[in-house]
Amino acid sequence: GKTAVLMGGRSAEREISLMSGNGVLAALQAEGVDAQAFDPAQRDLSDLKREGFARVFIALHGRHGEDGTVQGALELMGLPYTGSGVMASAIAMDKTMTKRVWLAEQLPTPRWVWLSAQDQSRERLRTVPDELGLPLIVKPPREGSSIGITKVMGYSNMAEAVQLATGHDADVLCEQFIDGDEVTCPVIGHGATARALPVVRIVAPEGKYDYQNKYFTDDTSYLCPSGLPPDEEREIQRLVVAAYRALGCRGWGRADLMIRASDRQPYLLEMNTSPGMTGHSLVPMSARAAGISYQQLCLYLLSTAAL
Ligand code: DAL
Ligand code: MG
Repeated sequence: GKTAVLMGGRSAEREISLMSGNGVLAALQAEGVDAQAFDPAQRDLSDLKREGFARVFIALHGRHGEDGTVQGALELMGLPYTGSGVMASAIAMDKTMTKRVWLAEQLPTPRWVWLSAQDQSRERLRTVPDELGLPLIVKPPREGSSIGITKVMGYSNMAEAVQLATGHDADVLCEQFIDGDEVTCPVIGHGATARALPVVRIVAPEGKYDYQNKYFTDDTSYLCPSGLPPDEEREIQRLVVAAYRALGCRGWGRADLMIRASDRQPYLLEMNTSPGMTGHSLVPMSARAAGISYQQLCLYLLSTAAL
């Protein structure tokens, strides 16, 4: 039957999703799959059933796409889809919820302070650097692609950082800054068969791996093989598979981490359940290092589509 590649949507990452989706669509078509683009921002999801689609490749990022809502609608329609189910998608979309799950499983994640929409007074903000130290990271908990994130260097920058984050989410996540190597590691498969792909190490200009440097400049270096000592690479892979299982992920995902320079301790930052598939994206890069082409990766992911 026909395959729909869901792309676009109405999150802040719409532009990125269109790049991911068009890449996936072209790859599937090149492999002879009867695939068509479908943008849920312009169409009604129930058209998928009416138009006879048999399965769905989700290339949406962010809210109303990566967060369990679309997954729930597809469940109700009985259409198999790629990636995690409703619960894992919803938890992973929220970095605070994700950290709570990981902490309960004794998986290392930076210390944090969660500021609800009702708890962002000047007095409260002033206490955050005391709790987490400086610098610290302020982020909207349910956003992607580094949107709305600030590295706060001093007390006086807190208010501005919180204001930027609240442009994207009412609640705010403040996180201890881990100084060291930035790495990411994909996981594919499900349950006992889940396995990590090679680690990618990210070296961004002035350590600034932001929205612009993620997708639109060529100033960021991506190292894969990572160049990390083999035991460190294995430890990261063990950790991300445990992190993936703890959240109940399925199909694929990509965990982002920092490795603290002082003692080489890795810290999990977040899990992306619908990772980027753009020309700059890191799951395709890691897969390639494992001998899996972009087209093979897309075919494999489609083969894992489930309900
Ligand atoms: N949120 C972007 C798409 C990623 O994690 O790749
Ligand atoms: Mg993310």
